[in-house]
Amino acid sequence: MKLLIKNIKSLIQVEESPRKWVAGADMKKLPTIENAFLLIEDELISDFGTMEKCPVEADEIIDATGKIVSPTWCDSHTHLVYHGSREGEFEDRINGLTYEEITERGGGIHNSAKNLQNATEDELYEQAYARLQEIKGYGTGAVEIKSGYGLTFESEMKMLRVARRLRENTDMTIKATFLGAHAIPLEYKNDREGYMNLLINEMLPAVAEADLADYCDVFCEKGFFTPEETDRILKAGWKHGMRPKIHANELYYSGGIQVGVENNALSVDHLECTGDAEIEALQGSETMATILPSTAFFLGLEYAPARKMIDAGLPVALATDYNPGSTPSGRMSFVLSLACLKMDMTPEEAINAVTLNGAYAMGVEKELGSIAKGKFANILITKKIASLAFLPYSFGSDLIESVFIKGKIS
Ligand code: NIG
Ligand code: FE
Repeated sequence: MKLLIKNIKSLIQVEESPRKWVAGADMKKLPTIENAFLLIEDELISDFGTMEKCPVEADEIIDATGKIVSPTWCDSHTHLVYHGSREGEFEDRINGLTYEEITERGGGIHNSAKNLQNATEDELYEQAYARLQEIKGYGTGAVEIKSGYGLTFESEMKMLRVARRLRENTDMTIKATFLGAHAIPLEYKNDREGYMNLLINEMLPAVAEADLADYCDVFCEKGFFTPEETDRILKAGWKHGMRPKIHANELYYSGGIQVGVENNALSVDHLECTGDAEIEALQGSETMATILPSTAFFLGLEYAPARKMIDAGLPVALATDYNPGSTPSGRMSFVLSLACLKMDMTPEEAINAVTLNGAYAMGVEKELGSIAKGKFANILITKKIASLAFLPYSFGSDLIESVFIKGKIS
């Protein structure tokens, strides 16, 4: 089956030779072909170029006059398997409580854990599947999904089984991450070592044995897991073949970035509290700095210093953090707008951060994240728009007209 998209106003993020990521000053460059065609054969991109070289025959032809065609977004950090919602805590925050105070009272992650422990696997699956469909409509073609609202052996396994079932029932690319170390469960409040033991000696081996996770995550933060505990968990994860991808420096300068880089994490995520020492730790590493600006927006935190990171030569990825507590939104276009408006990223930098760099941050840069021959045909077509900058500028608008996953419209 040959699908030809022709008369494309701008075909963005095209790539002749493979790159693993885009870093520093290069992030301002977004390779683009104006007045372009894109040819898809079955699941894969087979050719692209200017309209002068456009093939004449195909099984199906789409005219994209006035529209931008882009690789779909890679959302490399979500918690989209969860049950219920937490708008009560949203109101508590409006009335003056902080996110940490809510957690200390047994709310926050514990609230979602209680909810999830009582949900059946089918209920969980149905809610998560709906969210998956929702984000696909926003232009997301690949997503990483974490556990971490189980916090018991059985419920962590249940979450990861749901993530696997999602993977089996969609053409979207899904990576799963074990985040048993999301919070110390209330019943282990006075026995941290007991939970560490459960994580390292029971949960991790069982997750690995059932091949339920690609990566291992820890919420390394004051009030959650210390850098020393994080180090032990990450080393245990590596023993089971799970590369780290961690939550770091969201609320404090907590040492999370350093411990992540020391353990060769694929990504360190959040990074609201990032200074010179953290940037230095990231320089020269293989770890992607991943920023989640809709979390800072929702919790009223300082935004991560993206500009400083990029100016220091780092690659930066952007993701949603879709979860019930700190970011009840999986809308990547809003992340793009926040990146430009609140972190002074240019539209080109923001697009690089949600395509190729997002792909790297979830380990799929060889098959997704750019328009390249042989990569999966996960692409989105916008409505007719004035220019690339119109995407982040027009925040809140639905500008994605159609989304193709592995060459099929969805
Ligand atoms: O990435 N920071 C840790 N975990 C999630 C939110 C947890 C929650 O409140 O449910 C996050 O923001
Ligand atoms: Fe998160």
